[in-house]
Amino acid sequence: MLPSVVENNLKKLLGDRKASDFRDAYAQLSESYRNAISPNINADSALAYACARMPATYAVVKYVIDEFTRKVPSYTFRDVLDVGSGTGALMCYFLDANLNYTAIEKSKAMIEVSRNLIEGGILAPDFHCCDVQQAFTQRYDSTFFIYSLNEMPDKSAVLQKAVDCTSDYIFVVETGTPIGFEVIKLAKQIALKNRLGVVAPCAVENCPLAADDWCHFSVRVPRSQLHNLVKNSSLPYEDEKFSYVILSKKRVEYYSNNRIIKRPIKKKGHAIFDLCTDSGARRFISSDKKHRKCEWGEELGDIQ
Ligand SMILES: C[S@@+](CC[C@H](N)C(=O)[O-])C[C@H]1O[C@@H](n2cnc3c(N)ncnc32)[C@H](O)[C@@H]1O
Repeated sequence: MLPSVVENNLKKLLGDRKASDFRDAYAQLSESYRNAISPNINADSALAYACARMPATYAVVKYVIDEFTRKVPSYTFRDVLDVGSGTGALMCYFLDANLNYTAIEKSKAMIEVSRNLIEGGILAPDFHCCDVQQAFTQRYDSTFFIYSLNEMPDKSAVLQKAVDCTSDYIFVVETGTPIGFEVIKLAKQIALKNRLGVVAPCAVENCPLAADDWCHFSVRVPRSQLHNLVKNSSLPYEDEKFSYVILSKKRVEYYSNNRIIKRPIKKKGHAIFDLCTDSGARRFISSDKKHRKCEWGEELGDIQ
């Protein structure tokens, strides 16, 4: 769920208009995303995006940063660059944080919505309404591309600039589809070229998955009434599929340890896990009780 202050700000932004008024705008956005085209965004589509997509994008941001914090518990975010900041899912995560925050976003309408949504929080982003080509003019501790790199031309060059301008960590999140995973693989190639480390989710430098497979995870997001009205649906929840990678400028010593990369098959007395291990992809069958509760996306830890 979005923070309640954001949820209330969103209701205020909608004013007298009904969420269902934004269905067409959302349908057009979805169509563009399905075809991997960067959509033209106006005030209505920015609001439609906020209503329909932000609960899921916010949940994914939280999942990924929680995973990062498990791996690097002592790290404090101080200087963040959010590239393609949209309606501000990442800003909502850092809503009450006291840090330097730069948002790069080419759509004025998206910036306006994000500015309104974070009202009441401590965060005071420095907004730049510009193309990514004008970003990376200074150094940042951490750079985030949340569902945005996929829409940008010259992805390799953009990633290289991010590597050059980031001191600590680069986060890339994309949809959990073959197209989204292509972007994640590209980020890993740039990491290899620059001798960066990978904090999560990978257990090995070279992706061991078959060419037609893709590494993705899932987070369950409860749907509010508003959410359902814009999506023209009545489901109580949705499962958001996403792919991600967290790169580290430090040559990392903490690769993941036997990450579960598909939904485990749980049977009576045993469970079947598909793992990304330091020696490649591997299927592991466990009857150990300590593995019963392990879920997709988690690490299984040491195994035989
Ligand atoms: C799918 S939205 C994601 C927004 C936000 N990061 C989130 O997670 O909700 C992608 C955003 O990237 C922005 N974007 C796409 N190409 C861009 C570019 N070349 N320069 C700056 N922003 C760009 C779009 O305007 C859009 O707001």
